[in-house]
Amino acid sequence: MAKSNTFSCSACGASFSKWSGRCEGCGEWNTIVEDKGLSSAGPSKKSLGIRRGKTIPLSDLSTEETPPPRATCGVAELDRVLGGGLVAASAILVGGDPGIGKSTLLLQAAARFAQAGVKTIYVSGEEASAQVRMRAQRLGLAQAPVKLAAETNLRDILTTLEAERPQLAIIDSIQTMWADHVDSAPGSVSQVRAAAHELTTFAKAQGISIIMVGHVTKDGQIAGPRVVEHMVDTVLYFEGERGHQFRILRAVKNRFGPADEIGVFEMTGCGLAEVTNPSALFLSDRGEPSAGSVVFAGIEGTRPVLVEMQALVAPSPHSQPRRAVVGWDSSRLAMILAVLEARCGIPFAGLDVYLNVAGGMKITEPAADLAVAAALLSAREDVALPADTAVFGEISLSGALRPAPQTENRLKEAQKLGFTSAIAPSGGKSISIKGLGLRRASDLAGFVGEFFGA
Ligand code: TYD
Ligand code: MG
Repeated sequence: MAKSNTFSCSACGASFSKWSGRCEGCGEWNTIVEDKGLSSAGPSKKSLGIRRGKTIPLSDLSTEETPPPRATCGVAELDRVLGGGLVAASAILVGGDPGIGKSTLLLQAAARFAQAGVKTIYVSGEEASAQVRMRAQRLGLAQAPVKLAAETNLRDILTTLEAERPQLAIIDSIQTMWADHVDSAPGSVSQVRAAAHELTTFAKAQGISIIMVGHVTKDGQIAGPRVVEHMVDTVLYFEGERGHQFRILRAVKNRFGPADEIGVFEMTGCGLAEVTNPSALFLSDRGEPSAGSVVFAGIEGTRPVLVEMQALVAPSPHSQPRRAVVGWDSSRLAMILAVLEARCGIPFAGLDVYLNVAGGMKITEPAADLAVAAALLSAREDVALPADTAVFGEISLSGALRPAPQTENRLKEAQKLGFTSAIAPSGGKSISIKGLGLRRASDLAGFVGEFFGA
């Protein structure tokens, strides 16, 4: 095959038929690099190079091109996390601990997309096609029109994708892929980077959406999904506690939708089932009010979610009392304890403090501060807040309470789930919701005085 234009300048983009030390186009030194084709076949090289460097005026973009077309799979929890569906020619990374359920999730997603008319290929580098088929049978998806491939060589995969021209390709996992022009073992940083880069470039050039799976690794030998986060359009993490049956798909970066959006799934014997009302799940079994338990009205992405904060405060037998946190930030807990002590005169010295977000949920919102403070006080004083009360608000170091964003949505969700009262910071616009008694506090000391009589 005649080789032409296989070298290009990384500074100005000029193409050359042979390598030289200095670019004739822009005069830069050492910028000529060999253009490695995605595969040995010709067309991709042409389509990759043909538009290089061409610009178009922003105003000339026709309106049909924006917003980008999206394909939905019908699993609302997944479509929402993707920002309202799968954007054509996008690269998506799904990270998560080994065994958390990524392959299950993506095989189900592949089947649903395929059933919705999106031509889908599922490439497994970890399991043989027969094993993937067995999994599909277990999930009741054996008849879905998905094509399977068991392959780890990137060049072979790209050639297959070029020939098949699917709209969606799922690569499970990026750590098992290897590009033959990189001299290191599969899973190494350079292999993972090279594979992700080629797949992403390929996605853009060919208009194929690619979902890559990345295992979170504790071992330094194998590159984790973080290495490729910056290359892709969307980064989703699949998380959950092993002992709990539900899993959360969280968007941490999304060029085509809101970040911090979550989708909630429940693990069942026949795969993941979507949970459309997560608040009900996280609040299950609430009956009698109990000391140390407070319901936080939170927002995850665009959706209000109610979760239970549980605290236990007990005299410590140790000289260094314990502070243990599950599902929340431990330095934030230290801050709340310090504010309670400094601004309200309530010491926690000599007391062990345990804080747990029920159901294996992880909360990152500062608006959870007030619910945490309430749970800690309730546990310490052994006084329960009424069970039908939802709490939220951010606490500042001065002890003042700051209004939280989306107050109305939080209150509406609480009301929808049968809560009859809520405690929120004062300030912001006045809101009244039928059937929900709203009480406002402007600082932590006032809140403590009103609800715990201290
Ligand atoms: P798997 O999808 O293989 O995890 P990953 O690809 O992240 O390593 O799932 C791990 C195990 O959990 C597997 O044996 C199947 C099982 N599982 C279920 O039984 N039901 C479910 O809903 C899920 C998600 C997994
Ligand atoms: Mg897997």
